[in-house]
Amino acid sequence: MCGIVAYIGKKEAYPIILKGLKRLEYRGYDSAGIALLNNGEINLYKRQGKVSNLEEFAADKNINGNSGIGHTRWATHGAPNDVNAHPHYSSDGSIALIHNGIIENYDSLRKELINHGYVFKSETDTEVLVHLIDDIRKNEKISIAEAVRHALQNVVGAYAIVVISKDNPNQLVAARKSSPLVVGISNEGDFYLASDATPIVEYTKRVVYLEDEEIAVVDLNEGLKIVNIGNQEITPYVQQLQLELEALEKGGYEHFMLKEIHEQPRSINDCFRGRLNADEAWVSLGGIKEYEQKMINAKRIVMVACGTSWHACLVGEYLLEDLARINVEVEYASEFRYRNPIIGENDIVIAVSQSGETADTLAALELAKSKGATILGICNVVGSSISRITDAGSYTHAGPEIGVASTKAFTAQVTVLTLMALSLAYKKGTISDSKFHSMLAELESIPEKVKLVLEKNDLIEKIANTYKDATNALYLGRGSSFPVALEGALKLKEISYIHAEGYPAAEMKHGPIALIDEEMPVFVIATKGTSYEKVVSNIQEVKARKGKIIAIVTEGDIAVKEMADHAIEIPETDEHLVPILATIPLQLLSYHIAVMRGCNVDQPRNLAKSVTVE
Ligand code: G6P
Repeated sequence: MCGIVAYIGKKEAYPIILKGLKRLEYRGYDSAGIALLNNGEINLYKRQGKVSNLEEFAADKNINGNSGIGHTRWATHGAPNDVNAHPHYSSDGSIALIHNGIIENYDSLRKELINHGYVFKSETDTEVLVHLIDDIRKNEKISIAEAVRHALQNVVGAYAIVVISKDNPNQLVAARKSSPLVVGISNEGDFYLASDATPIVEYTKRVVYLEDEEIAVVDLNEGLKIVNIGNQEITPYVQQLQLELEALEKGGYEHFMLKEIHEQPRSINDCFRGRLNADEAWVSLGGIKEYEQKMINAKRIVMVACGTSWHACLVGEYLLEDLARINVEVEYASEFRYRNPIIGENDIVIAVSQSGETADTLAALELAKSKGATILGICNVVGSSISRITDAGSYTHAGPEIGVASTKAFTAQVTVLTLMALSLAYKKGTISDSKFHSMLAELESIPEKVKLVLEKNDLIEKIANTYKDATNALYLGRGSSFPVALEGALKLKEISYIHAEGYPAAEMKHGPIALIDEEMPVFVIATKGTSYEKVVSNIQEVKARKGKIIAIVTEGDIAVKEMADHAIEIPETDEHLVPILATIPLQLLSYHIAVMRGCNVDQPRNLAKSVTVE
């Protein structure tokens, strides 16, 4: 979390950085700030709250400069106020710095710097970095780039930083470890730096992704130079961005989340491209093809993820176990990494991550790798850290997801996992030819069925209106619909701030049933399939306590429709594919409830999309 953006070149830096910060606001919106170098002085503009607050504050000021750095913050150390906002200055105002990450040994460094006479203005861990660089530069009489390198040798933690200095007006110095940083190189000789490529794509498609412990100097006279922390020169690997600018805009929708919900027929289709052909009866995930036999032979597959991606893993567990008969364990990445897990060379660890940057997921993978496991990734963001450290992987191809609450990324992750399960099942012989063929055909029809579910929007909006004032909600499902229930509950609490819990339907009677009264909406995934009758019984148990039932049912199901207070029909499909379809109405319900409650749907309070801190 925290977004950083910087520019140096011939243009005015302020509009470029401001626009970049708006693109990166999904990474945090506790405060925003910019430092610009103009006529030999670094001027700081910082404001608590969203980038729009900074923009308003700056509106009547004459802000100029061809070089600058900007930051949008998700607070870790210190309250979200103007003082703690980045950039942070050195005492004499000659250096300013932005940072994404956490300096874990900041306390000892701070004490040391106070002994050297430094006075701290903020409560942030970041301010130690700027003073440390300043201290080293003055004591060792070295260049700013060298001082950054030496300073980082003393730092424990995660960082992506950009430093601007008065004494070197032609250059910016940047570095990363565990937090992402991309350098954009324009044909005009200007440079752009950012946490991801979205602030850069408008100006250039030529980018370099920095690796851990690399320090980059972008210099208007000398170009881009990269060294590692040990001072070995690194040849920059320039890549061509595949991202299109239109993908970063709302395209006529009121919110990014709504746009992304409606994009799902297309994003699922994009996920199929080149990987599925029902007529020719094949499915193939090219990225992991050479690891398939290893997956089949593996003692078990461990899946690690956080948040919504963790829910996708739970669906994947059902699919891989049921179709391919492979033993799967799903772990919260944050728990896995600190539990001394038993992992060895015969294990496969798959990380699932939209951003490909989640700190815990990344660390879980590094741990698995250090123990000799094969590590694979399922990521959405091309070129992200996870996609680069894994042995192999499959992109979800959902396109940029900007709404903080994940929607199309989830269905794309489930789609990739379905393709994976089918491919492995076929290869392993755990699925009959006829079942394989019928599932491929059914999978190919899913985007059209998603469209049909999206057409229920008006009905869903009406249901949302009935329950918008609820204070609690329960989501129930069984089998692979249990993770859908978890995801439905997460969506509601994330964006509408209604307390919601997802539960396996049968577990309800071991606790949550005590909460049920006539005020309590209970969302139940009650589609036709193995557990249908059992779920119907659970619905009766809720009804007996006067709970309100909102059921997701298979088209044409009269029985549950009659029992429920409201029913949303989804097209009939293979049971394994229900999670994709059943998720859509729950996304729309949360969206409408949040809008009706006046919540900021795209940027819910306290959340960030890319969680690059533990
Ligand atoms: C944050 C986001 C969630 C996301 C989770 C994991 O909490 O708000 O939407 O599911 O991180 O992110 P990842 O990028 O690893 O999927």
